[in-house]
Parts: sequence; structure tokens; C-alpha cells
Amino acid sequence: MCGIVGAIAERNITAILVEGLKRLEYRGYDSAGLAVFSNAGLLERCRRVGKVSELEQALADEPLAGQLGIAHTRWATHGAPSERNAHPHFSGHDLAVVHNGIIENHEALRERLKGLGYVFSSDTDTEVIVHLLEHKLQELGDLTVALKAVVAELHGAYGLAVISAKQPDRLLAARSGSPLVIGLGHGENFLASDQLALRQVTDRFMYLEEGDIAEIHRDGVQIWDVAGQPVQREQVQYRDGAEAADKGAYRHFMLKEIHEQPQVVQRTLEGRLGADHVLVEAFGPQAAELFAKVRNVQIVACGTSYHAGMVARYWLEELAGIPCQVEVASEFRYRKVVVQPDTLFVSISQSGETADTLAALRNGKARSATDGRYLASLAICNVGISSLVRESDLTLLTQAGPEIGVASTKAFTTQLVALMLLTLALGRVRGSLAAALEAELVDELRRLPSRLDEALALDKAVEKIAELFAEKHHTLFLGRGAQYPVALEGALKLKEISYIHAEAYPAGELKHGPLALVDSDMPVVTVAPNNELLEKLKSNLQEVRARGGQLIVFADQQAGLGNGEGTHVLAVPHICDALAPILYTIPLQLLSYHVAVLKGTDVDQPRNLAKSVTVE
Ligand code: G6P
Repeated sequence: MCGIVGAIAERNITAILVEGLKRLEYRGYDSAGLAVFSNAGLLERCRRVGKVSELEQALADEPLAGQLGIAHTRWATHGAPSERNAHPHFSGHDLAVVHNGIIENHEALRERLKGLGYVFSSDTDTEVIVHLLEHKLQELGDLTVALKAVVAELHGAYGLAVISAKQPDRLLAARSGSPLVIGLGHGENFLASDQLALRQVTDRFMYLEEGDIAEIHRDGVQIWDVAGQPVQREQVQYRDGAEAADKGAYRHFMLKEIHEQPQVVQRTLEGRLGADHVLVEAFGPQAAELFAKVRNVQIVACGTSYHAGMVARYWLEELAGIPCQVEVASEFRYRKVVVQPDTLFVSISQSGETADTLAALRNGKARSATDGRYLASLAICNVGISSLVRESDLTLLTQAGPEIGVASTKAFTTQLVALMLLTLALGRVRGSLAAALEAELVDELRRLPSRLDEALALDKAVEKIAELFAEKHHTLFLGRGAQYPVALEGALKLKEISYIHAEAYPAGELKHGPLALVDSDMPVVTVAPNNELLEKLKSNLQEVRARGGQLIVFADQQAGLGNGEGTHVLAVPHICDALAPILYTIPLQLLSYHVAVLKGTDVDQPRNLAKSVTVE
């Protein structure tokens, strides 16, 4: 995903911009560029396809120096990766813009601006912003005033950084749906899409809020809110140790990563939601055209990522009406699969380097070359520079940040968010999802981070319940519908890190076998959102109680389930049914964590397991 860095200082800022871009490399990108207001009083830029190191080399060959500048790593949405599409974009010689996000009304704006005589030199949506700004500037005279007028005309999502050779005393920023943070220095200030990019120069930050516009000078910052009123934003100071590869105050990486979920889910949504719909372009330049042709989806993945795929199957079929198959990659790669025409091949992977998933993708591509039934491949992945991303036609990056604990947690929930975005995008483009339902789910997605926070507040209660498991050798997890894969994931987490044998079943299958195992030594964990399957689930629970089984139920506050003898109910915040799999994952992660801690296992590096399985 794209990254922004900007700086205004009294020293040369080129190296700061390049270092900032390097720190954003992990997010994935296909080209990079920067523009500086040079000592000669001109805006000069350098852009390169490929790595930031290539940009750096180009700058070593032909140095650019200046005290005001903006830089960008681009992930193509409109227009292929190429130097002419790389940011910054210029209008004339005096105005430069970098942009994260997607401008949905770019076509209409482009036509209007062409009518006004502007000549476009890229295929990007971003270029309309810079020409529109130039146009407004002629009318209004002041850069900040002109930027305010421009954003009023933009539909979609954006984080913007702007500089002008005519008003080089300022660096401008605007945020709507794509994050921006101001880094505060002494006699110099900075801007970035992620504070990580600026940790080299400052530890003091000010986060812009939705709709904010900021005018950043060397010695001060002025911010206006969405209503155009001047506002102050809180200053945050980071102490050392707040980095992703550091446990901070947490005892284990896994616990830290569990608690990061509201934040990384938020990040995965950023720049991808319009007012009431998902921005299809977030999946890549050809996504809208390809998605319109999709008639089937084939998902392949391993481990936790496979469970995410299983949840997605419920969503794709129920919400978007698209037939979907899901298979573990190690099976898929060796099977003679019968592919339906117009199938979208989706691979899901945290690392993007899992050998079986990569092999499955390669097999899929080889098959597509012969029978043409796979339309395109889409990678849902957490690592932008991975093999899976490089080898896929389309990518949606989860923004979980580095995941260190071997047992996957935040990667899973961000995968689910990405898959929900895919479901909504496919449903709309194909016309199989009602606009009102999409709008409702987009709204629910926006509220999801705070729901996850509420679910994390169950931590203490779950820690207490974990005591029931410490001496047990076997556990059963039950769920129905899209909660069945959540139960599978809960069981996987428990076995991975506590070494307790755990199995998961769709609750309706209980009487076809596993009920024979149930006795007072076998705790049964159930996830019970308040949906149409609740009554059926309640009868399954009765079947367990009748055999003396201990029940641990994570239930919707409104499910009408209460504690009783042998039944422990933990109330989970209410959430719409579609997003319940994401929310109910949290208490199950916490449960496995606390059981493992009680058992004294190596939580972050469980025996025999690897974080990334790059061999077969
Ligand atoms: C390993 C990890 C799991 C992960 C699986 C797939 O088994 O221990 O946590 O779910 O690989 O990895 P991927 O990177 O492809 O998601």
C-alpha cells in the first residue's frame, strides 16, 4: 500500500525522505519518487519503478537537495506501475502532490480539467488533484485556501501532501479515509502516512483526524477540522520500545499482537472505504473489470489462513451469491481440480512465502495458461514484498504489521477484514449485493475496531476461565455456520501453544461421533452469536450438559444464555451477524494464550512449529 513522507526544515531533507520511504517498504509498493523545492528555487523530482534503493541510486547519480519536499511509495490502483504513473504528480512546474487512497470521481474531474486545457501525463486518479489544485489556485491565490476548495470536490479516500514553488514556506496535508501523522521537530516538521517513517527524526507526533487539513511550517502547524474550524490535535510522545519488533509492556508477542487488533483492523480498512461502499480499485487497476466477470471463487491457504478462507466461503455465498471452494494448499496442489469457468483464484497468506500456497498458485497459473478458466489470481497477504504478491495479478495487503508470535492472531483478523472487503466489492460489481446492505456493512466495519476493543476487555474473565483447562488433556470446540471455522481456529490456537489436544466440530455433528467423548474431563467451548442458529445451538449444548460435560460459552449479550451448573457463559458485545466471526475470534485467542501461560509453554515459539513454512 502507498506511503507518504514529507518534510520542511532548514537542512537538506532528501535523505530524510528516502529513509522514511525505506521504513515504509514493508507495506508493499511498486514504484517510488520524491520532489523537493531545490535551492535553485524550483520543484525538482526523481521517480523510479521498483525499489526505494533504485530511487536512492538515481539520487546518488544526480543529487537533489532542498529544505522542503514530499515523497511517496506507490501501489498501483489506476494505471500500471511505471515512472510516469509514480508520484509526485506535477501541475506545471510549481505544484506537486502525493496521494494515498482512491479518488472515485476522477473520470468526471479529468474531463472537466481537460476542457479547461490541462494536459495529463499519467493514468492516475491522483493527477486530477494536482491540476484541480492549480486551477483553484489561480482563482483563489492562496495554496491552503485552494486545497480546502479542492478536497470539497473529491469523492473517495485520500491522504494528501502538497508543496508549491510559489509558497515554499509550507507543506500542506489533507486526510480523509487514509491516515496521516505530523512529526514535530525543533525548527523543522514532518509528515507521513505512518509514524514509523519518521522515528528517525522525532518521537513527537500529532495524528490528523478525518477531514483535517494541515498547514505545516518549519516553526509551527495549523490544523482545520472537517467543518473548517481551527483545531488543536493532541501531541503524542513515543518512548523507545514501542516498535513492532518489541514486546513493549507485554509479556509475550502473542499477547501484544492480540491487543493490537483494533488498530491493525483499522489500518486494513484505511483508504479502502468510500462513504457507503468498498473502493474496488483498492484491489488493483484491473479489479473492477475483472470482478465483473467472476462467477466462482477458489481459495487456497494453509493453517490459520485456511480458516480465514473458510469463513470467507460463507460470506461470498451468502452475501455476494458467488459459489466458492476452499482448500488447504497442500491438498490442492496435488489434486486434479475441475475448475469452473471465470474463477477468481484467491490465495491467503500472512507471510506470502508458504511453500504449499505458492505451489498452489503456480499450479493455478499453469492451468489457467492451458484452459483459461482462472480469470485472475488475487493474493491476500501481509507482506508486500513477498513471492505470493509478486506472482499474483491482484493483491490486497492486510496491514497487520510484523507478526512475531508463531501462532497467528492479528494476521487472521485482518485477513477476515480483507475478505469481507472482497465479498462486498465482488457483490457490488456483479450486482448481486444490495447497495443498502453494503452500506450497512461498511458502517459496521467502521465500528469494528471499537467492538474489538470491547471484546479485549474480556481478558480478565477469560484468564479466570482458563484455569478450567490447565489440567485437561482434550477439548472440543463447537460452532455453527461461519462460526464453525472460528471454532476450528480456536482449537488450532489451543493445540499450537498449550499442546492440549483440541478438535472442532460443526455443532450439528456432535451427535454423529464426538458426543461419545464428552464427560466431565472434556471441556466444550462454544461460540454463540445471536443468530438464527442460536436455538439449534442451545439444544446441542443441552446434549453436552446431559453427559456431564463442562460448557464454556462465548455468547452474545442478548443470547439469553446464563451461567448454570457446569455452564460458564462469557458475554460478548453485540455485533451484526456478518462480522461476528471476527469478534468471536478474540476471546478464543485470549483463552489459548492464558491456558498456555498457565501450562508454562513457550507461547511465542511453540515446540515443533515455524512461523513461515517455506519448505514442503
Ligand atoms: C505456519 C504458521 C501458521 C500459519 C501457516 C500459514 O503453520 O505457524 O501460523 O497460519 O503457517 O502461513 P501463512 O504465512 O501462509 O499464512
